[in-house]
Amino acid sequence: MVPGGRAREVERGARDVLDPVHFDYLAGGAGDERTLTGNEDAFARRRLVPRVLRGPGPVDLSTDLPGVRLAAPVVVAPTAFHRLAHRDGEAATAAGVAAAGGLLTVSTMATTAVEGIAATGAALWFQLYVQPDRAFTAALVARAEAAGCRALVLTVDSPVRGRHGRDERHGFTELPPGVVCENLRAADGRVRDLVVDPDLGWDAVAWLRGRTTLPVLVKGVLHPADARLAVEHGVDGIVVSNHGGRQLDGAVSTLDALPAVVEAVAGRVPVLLDGGVRSGVDALVALALGADAVMLGRPVLWGLALGGADGVRAVLEDLTDELAHAMALVGAHRPADLTPDLVTVP
Ligand code: FNR
Repeated sequence: MVPGGRAREVERGARDVLDPVHFDYLAGGAGDERTLTGNEDAFARRRLVPRVLRGPGPVDLSTDLPGVRLAAPVVVAPTAFHRLAHRDGEAATAAGVAAAGGLLTVSTMATTAVEGIAATGAALWFQLYVQPDRAFTAALVARAEAAGCRALVLTVDSPVRGRHGRDERHGFTELPPGVVCENLRAADGRVRDLVVDPDLGWDAVAWLRGRTTLPVLVKGVLHPADARLAVEHGVDGIVVSNHGGRQLDGAVSTLDALPAVVEAVAGRVPVLLDGGVRSGVDALVALALGADAVMLGRPVLWGLALGGADGVRAVLEDLTDELAHAMALVGAHRPADLTPDLVTVP
């Protein structure tokens, strides 16, 4: 099977069952989709240089991340509008994540309230778009914390919205009737529109720290200078991300950006990567180049579309199984054994 072949199959299956307009919203990227395709291409360029005769012993993938210990270094990325993929939306995603023993990052733009998602028992992080209405944002943080989320993931790559050509061509501007961003429902019951804040600065991290005891990660860092600034501002983790190619078209692929960020962070906080991870081998490559964990965006949505909670569980279990198998074949027992010398660009 070609690398990522199974992920492609699941994606094709999802395309067959979804409304084409909704499929394009979920699958698409910004501009000419160079960054979207670049993320996957960056993995496809890498080859592994395995070590041999490193002795027997089981593979142990367990990984500590802010607020949570996981059986494997694989986290579900925050993605909006799961009810476009499946009628049960984020509740089904969370049930699948719980069955796989994983971790789900709930989006600010989820179409199920964080309280209802938490009721599935899944381990959760909460992704935050800080709103210019800081009182509303503080109330949202309090909701996430009360629901049991283990950390906040502050998205920092969206001072303005990405331009999605596929959505523009379809005229996709409205969610179906009854589908709303439940986390943006105010105390009076009205649902607010999401505002992306062009004025957001590093002081947002300190502001957030003053409102929560939860660990805070920043998501959407590509430049090593920003990684350094993030650590200086006291974040608990960094997600190297270009928003799955949905914001700045032309942005560097996340795998190509990773090594410089890892060097700048120098082990002070965990570094995660998302964008284009489609197989256990991809996850291994990211770990070898210095990521502490990977996040999965679209593959989870395709699993959700095809099989609801079971589909999500299968996507996560397949990828984790393949990661453990590939670890054995490169001669690694633990993620810490994965080093950059195992990866080459021929
Ligand atoms: C996203 N992403 C995203 N990120 C975020 O911080 N908040 C959000 O609400 C969303 N919404 C969203 C919707 C959809 C449909 C997609 C595909 C992505 C970005 C997401 O967290 C992640 O960075 C990418 O999806 C990772 O890339 P892959 O795995 O999809 O290639």
